Amino acid sequence: MQQNKGFGSKIGFILAAAGSAVGVGNLWGFPYRAGMSGGAAFVLVYILMVLAIGAIVMLSEMYIGKRAGKNVVDAYGMVSPKLKWVGGLNVVTPFLISSYYIVIGGWSLKYAFNYLTAQDFATNSYFSEYISQGFTPIIYMLIFVVISAIIVCAGVEKGIEKFSKIAMPMLLICLVLVVIRSLTLGEGVREGLEFFILKLDFEALGFSGILMAMSQAFFSLSLGLGAMIVYGSYSNSSMKLSTSIFTICALDTVVAILAGLAIFPAVFAFGFQPTEGTGLMFSVLPQVFASMPAGGLFGFMFFILVVFAALTSIVSLLEVVSQVSIEKLGWSRKKSTVVFSSLIAVIGVFVSLSMGAVPEIHVGNFDLLTYIDEAMNYVIIPLLALMACISIAYVVKPEELRDKLRSEGDEFKWFGIFRIFVKFITPVLIVIVLISGIIERLQTIANFHTIVIGALLIILAMLVMNYLSYKKDKKSNLK
Ligand code: PHE
Repeated sequence: MQQNKGFGSKIGFILAAAGSAVGVGNLWGFPYRAGMSGGAAFVLVYILMVLAIGAIVMLSEMYIGKRAGKNVVDAYGMVSPKLKWVGGLNVVTPFLISSYYIVIGGWSLKYAFNYLTAQDFATNSYFSEYISQGFTPIIYMLIFVVISAIIVCAGVEKGIEKFSKIAMPMLLICLVLVVIRSLTLGEGVREGLEFFILKLDFEALGFSGILMAMSQAFFSLSLGLGAMIVYGSYSNSSMKLSTSIFTICALDTVVAILAGLAIFPAVFAFGFQPTEGTGLMFSVLPQVFASMPAGGLFGFMFFILVVFAALTSIVSLLEVVSQVSIEKLGWSRKKSTVVFSSLIAVIGVFVSLSMGAVPEIHVGNFDLLTYIDEAMNYVIIPLLALMACISIAYVVKPEELRDKLRSEGDEFKWFGIFRIFVKFITPVLIVIVLISGIIERLQTIANFHTIVIGALLIILAMLVMNYLSYKKDKKSNLK
């Protein structure tokens, strides 16, 4: 049954999963983090993280979805009834992430429009002034939500798969064009390339850079957020998970590196600093485009590309929540998409306002975007990735995964390596990074404890719900 409600073809499945993975995280997050943390050294550690942690967690999550053929809550319930809370967390997390992802999606949409209306926005202060406005960012955010809801409403194969099949190749072509433009700017290009791919500056990377690389890898590969579990549940035997995940990881990493190749040569060529931080894409890049020949065209292309990338990601987040309500509450796809995208939009309004228009909306000294982002990226997402690993390694058992895939004609040649990583290396790495990441942030970021407390409260709520439903199930079994 799951075949006909899922993806129609292997290439569609890979492009949809890669579409989920390729997003604002690649085009915005990756370059600015690499810029802040030593360039090439960050890139190297990032690639190691993708292989040692990302690929392993991705296969684990997809298989958890595939073996159940159901939504995330039931998928974890089928691993063990005691693990339903993990499934619950896998619904709450994408819901919260969506509420700020749409705000960033809205900003990107506005930037693309700016090129069409020839607004002068290539200044240092435009970005911070724009995001602290009350009205316009919300309007653009709403347009972005409506487009995503339409895609999700159309269904997995006719909406998500079809859109990804068009958007992903377009995105790659546009990105390559921008990279070519950037690499032919002459002076500064060499410096940019040295910084981004040649000069390994481990001092600038530091321990916090390594932590950043790992959380970047999770976010960028859409792990710990239910998306890959859901896409796994829509996969079928022709999709050969054991090799498909490498194509997905590779596409995601290539796009991140292309984004760096588009940005750094240009940044150096026009005398900006790579260490600009979050403003790298929204503040520096428009100024770079403004000062290059045919910059308007390339600027427009770049920001439209960000919008497309964000759309193929947000639809996967929405799908996690939609699938649960369709299967568990019996809602229609349309109803669940409308209800949840509206709810997300409402929280999105608060997130947008907290960026400056209404400074009273904040937690501790954080705006809502930073608050949710930090709680997810440094606490909940690594925890969920760890649970996926442990579920496969010690509950489901890697051998079941191997036998099932092989019975479907997927040879899974690297099973031996997978087994060692999923049982020992990956979980240990995640635990080290999870704990040291929290400790480091508690020491260096004022009020970080409010973020940890927020995350713990969500986890606690899920545990309580799990306990209640476990008791209820037991009771009805006794009857
Ligand atoms: N991977 C996306 C990005 O890089 C973000 C995302 C995470 C999307 C999880 C869906 C699910 O921007």
